[in-house]
Order: sequence, then C-alpha cells, then structure tokens
Amino acid sequence: MEKAEGEEKKSRVLIIGATGNLGFELAKASLQSSHPTFALVRNLSSSSHSSKSNKLHYLSNAGATLLEGSLQDQDSLVEAVKLVDVVICAVPSKQALHQKLLLQVISNSGSVKRFIPSEFGLDPYKTQVSDLDHNFYSSKAEIRQLVEASSIPYTVISCNFFMSYLLPSLVQPDLKAPPRDKYTVFGSGDVKGVFMKEADVASFTISAMDDPRTLNKVLYLRPPGNMYSLNELVQLWESKLQKTLEKIYIPEEELLKKIKETPYPENMTMVFIYSTFVKGDQIYFDIDSSGGVEGTHLYPQLRYTTISEYLDTLL
Ligand SMILES: NC(=O)c1ccc[n+]([C@@H]2O[C@H](COP(=O)([O-])OP(=O)(O)OC[C@H]3O[C@@H](n4cnc5c(N)ncnc54)[C@H](OP(=O)(O)O)[C@@H]3O)[C@@H](O)[C@H]2O)c1
Repeated sequence: MEKAEGEEKKSRVLIIGATGNLGFELAKASLQSSHPTFALVRNLSSSSHSSKSNKLHYLSNAGATLLEGSLQDQDSLVEAVKLVDVVICAVPSKQALHQKLLLQVISNSGSVKRFIPSEFGLDPYKTQVSDLDHNFYSSKAEIRQLVEASSIPYTVISCNFFMSYLLPSLVQPDLKAPPRDKYTVFGSGDVKGVFMKEADVASFTISAMDDPRTLNKVLYLRPPGNMYSLNELVQLWESKLQKTLEKIYIPEEELLKKIKETPYPENMTMVFIYSTFVKGDQIYFDIDSSGGVEGTHLYPQLRYTTISEYLDTLL
C-alpha cells in the first residue's frame, strides 16, 4: 500500500531481552508507538516460567513478531538484525560482554540505523568505584568503547536507578518496604541520586532511538522531581506519613568498612549506595560539557512518574 503524503515510515525495532524487566517495557513502548516490533527470545517453546510466557503472549497479541535466538547464536542474530532498523539490547549486566557477537553482526550488516546497548544505569565512564564494584561498570564501559570505535550509529541510555531498585525501601538495604520508625542515612545525606520508573525509561528510549539529536550520544535522565538526596527523601516521606522518623547516620568510613566486610555479591547494594549517595556518581558532572543530552529537555511532552508520585503508592 502506498504511504499517504506526510506519513512517516516507522523504524522496525528488535528488542533483545523482551521477557526481562526493562526489555518488556521497551517492547510495549515500541508497540504503543506503532513501531513494527521484533523480540529475540531464547526459548520460544518454554512454558516453564509462566511470567515469561505471559509476557510473550501479551507481546505477540499486541503485534510483536517473536524470533527464537540468543546472543550466543550467530545465525539467529544475523537473521534478526536483517529485519530491523534499530536494535535495543536489554540483557542483564552479567551478560554485558556477551553483546560482542551482536556488535560484530550489526557492524557486518551495515543496515542498522541505531543500536542501543544494554547500559540503562549509571554512566560507567563516570562512576568512581572501580576498586569496589567487581568489574560491574568496567564490562559496560568495555562494550561502550567497542561501540564508539565501530561505525555503528548508537545511543546510550544513562537513566540512573530504576524505581523498582532501592526506592521501595527508600534506600534501606535491609528492608523490602519503606521504614516507618527509623531511617538510616548513608554519608552526609546531602548527595542526590536519580530514580526513574522502568516504563518511563522505555518511553524515553523509544523517543530517542530515531532522533538525530541523540545520534552517537549519551541520553541522561535527570528530571528535577526524580532527583533527591537521602535527607530530602526521608523528609518527603515524613511529610506524607505526617510523622518524624528517628535518623541513624552511617558515615562514609563505616559504610566502606561494611562493604569490605560483606562478601560479594551481597555487598553490591551498599556499593551502589556508596557510589550514588556518597560519591555523587549520578550527578557530579555536567551533562552538556560531557557531550550528553538530557531526556526531559529533548522530550518535554513525555509524562513520567516523579518520586513523590511513586511514594504515594507506598503509603
Ligand atoms: N538502573 C537500574 O537500577 C537497573 C536495575 C536493574 C537492571 N538494570 C539494567 O537494565 C538492563 C536490563 O536488565 P533487567 O534487570 O531488565 O534484565 P532481566 O529482567 O534480568 O531480563 C533479562 C532479559 O535478557 C534475556 N537474556 C539473557 N541472556 C540472554 C542471551 N544470552 N541471549 C538473549 N537474551 C538473553 C533474558 O531472556 P530469558 O527470558 O531467556 O531469560 C531476559 O529477557 C541491564 O542493562 C541492567 O544492567 C538497571
């Protein structure tokens, strides 16, 4: 069918990791924006994980094309990459280095207009915890370096923390729900961190993937209503509870001692807290002078959940 005048051709999108937390939101956001959407899935016939098969049914019913394959299976990658204009990878951080074969395939294809690697967190070039993080950020940085050195057009999404990570407990590593009596503050409590809902990360990603302003750039997400220090976070929570909580301060040296005394990987939550709320790794640098762009500046029309709105759901 001929395209009506002015009708733009929608990019075809491949999501790798669509049964995962973020990947599912990415696939939904892509479909909601009417992009022909493909999902590379490791085992299409598996019904053992019902939440995964529910997600696959949902995506398939919503119009996604499901393809069987994996980051380790070159033929499946070649076939999938052939079908699309944009590739978004959302595999877990432990699998970050497994994106190398995908990079080769994308590079050889020469047809991909944008690749978004699986970063979706703090900027690994900016974090200052390489002596503590067991190569968590160096493997993401290695992939970024390979992407930059290739001729693949890319965008990196540096969204900082997901709301589902740490915010349900208001950054209390031993709790699953927000505290109602005592609150532990790490460091001075004055350093800000950023939390974004996964669905919002997905809608910014889908907006950025075709945008010439984000070509070969890092898109940071730092909306003012999503950027709080621990002192501000507990104050906001207290105002919602209409109650004052007892504060316990853990100074930097004590947090570092706890990190070193706790075995890996149990200590990683404290490493992320140290990086963000003591070192200021999400906010110490200026986005413009780092050559990056900020999502809410580029897409002021996109609606997203603020920290205050999220805390209302925890009351
Ligand atoms: N900023 C934050 O606070 C934060 C928090 C968590 C994660 N993240 C980041 O978000 C991204 C996605 O993480 P997530 O937690 O959403 O992941 P997740 O829920 O663990 O899902 C991972 C997905 O990757 C797929 N996958 C794993 N290995 C694969 C392979 N070899 N080939 C193809 N598919 C494979 C899985 O498929 P199967 O169904 O086959 O298992 C699943 O769909 C990562 O970059 C992670 O670092 C950020």
